[in-house]
Amino acid sequence: MSKKSTAVNANVVDTKRPTVVGADKHPGWHALRKLAARITTPLLPDDYLHLANPLWSARELRGRILEVRRETEDSATLVIKPGWGFSFDYQPGQYMGIGLLIDGRWRWRSYSLTSSPATASAGTARVRSRAIRSSPATSGSDRTVTITVKAMPEGFLSTHLVGGVAPGTIVRLAAPQGNFVLPDPAPASVLFLTAGSGITPVMSMLRTLVRRNQITDITHVHSAPTATDVMFADELAALAQDHPGYRLAVRETRAEGRLELSQIGQLVGDWRERQTWACGPEGMLNQAEKVWSSAGISDRLHLERFAVTKAAPAGAGGTVTFARSGRRVAADAATSVMDAGESAGVQMPFGCRMGICQSCVVELVEGHVRDLRTGQEHDPGTRVQTCISAASGDCVVDI
Ligand SMILES: Cc1cc2nc3c(=O)[nH]c(=O)nc-3n(C[C@H](O)[C@H](O)[C@H](O)COP(=O)(O)OP(=O)(O)OC[C@H]3O[C@@H](n4cnc5c(N)ncnc54)[C@H](O)[C@@H]3O)c2cc1C
Ligand code: FES
Repeated sequence: MSKKSTAVNANVVDTKRPTVVGADKHPGWHALRKLAARITTPLLPDDYLHLANPLWSARELRGRILEVRRETEDSATLVIKPGWGFSFDYQPGQYMGIGLLIDGRWRWRSYSLTSSPATASAGTARVRSRAIRSSPATSGSDRTVTITVKAMPEGFLSTHLVGGVAPGTIVRLAAPQGNFVLPDPAPASVLFLTAGSGITPVMSMLRTLVRRNQITDITHVHSAPTATDVMFADELAALAQDHPGYRLAVRETRAEGRLELSQIGQLVGDWRERQTWACGPEGMLNQAEKVWSSAGISDRLHLERFAVTKAAPAGAGGTVTFARSGRRVAADAATSVMDAGESAGVQMPFGCRMGICQSCVVELVEGHVRDLRTGQEHDPGTRVQTCISAASGDCVVDI
């Protein structure tokens, strides 16, 4: 059943002022906002801006969900119109944070952008495929972005985004980031290795390559349980038809079994020569790391992980104190310090939310936290990643 989501309104927005994400990219706008803040005191500019348009905010990036378009039985593409301050010059393959207000609490997750960035080079592409021309997700000109979400069984936000979020909902956004990106120009020969929802960052890359007219020599091996589970199936088929340089091999794992990457040479004879971008379940990515490493070509493998395996929770958790606001919250041994902070209304910095990007690092002032992946305990005075650390007894963090 879908959860109740609420559009941003004056009663529920945080009272705190985080730094406006992306302000460094647009110093002019930021200065204007600060000036507006002075002129409009004691009321804040947001109070006026919000009345005029809920997408205008000096405090945070916002977006409006324009459309939720079903891709497969359990996935959907969300077309989002970002508000003020959003920078469209993200790189294909990057992800952004999206926050929804559900039951009075902001819930954040990261999703790869599936749209193609609206860059100058994208706009000058001479040849476009029928698939890309007909896809609303690829046009940067309408100043929208897309993410494509697969509903995880038991997944809290993904099920809501796929099945329960209404067009018109205002969401919070965190600026695009990530290193799983395609260079410009693209390498001469490329292998995309994707499975399930792992196709999403590669979709942005493919759409961008089409717009740049850089589909030269791409082999794409994609795994899904059945053909009907393949996201973007029609667009990929049209791409293969329109561009001889793009070859797609779909592995239907329910009938054919999982792809054994140690045998990848049987499918892609020259895989060693190709720059490879891989995104999919953890097992597939771990195997890819081993295979590419034994071949001595780890430098040609680029990985994006959507999830990490967590160790079994140990201990009883504890009370986490957030030193700067003085807020406190009891958290069990399976709840990350980040989730605990967000549940207490603390503005926690984040990026990937899974232990990779280091955006969430803060100092542990007192007590101990435990790494949810490895079980390792961290001592006071160390800097810890709040997204994959849980309280191990009472603790204080410097945020
Ligand atoms: C950089 C990045 C990019 C991402 N891009 C996309 C994307 O484009 N499309 C997309 O659908 N998802 C993407 N994700 C995953 C997404 O952020 C959420 O983790 C996912 O939607 C599940 O959220 P949830 O709230 O439904 O699940 P939760 O309620 O948070 O978790 C439910 C259970 O599922 C497990 N779980 C969570 N995510 C996964 C996963 N991916 N695989 C296996 N188990 C998991 C959790 O450990 C938990 O046990 C991305 C993640 C990262 C870090
Ligand atoms: S948010 Fe990326 S490491 Fe914690």
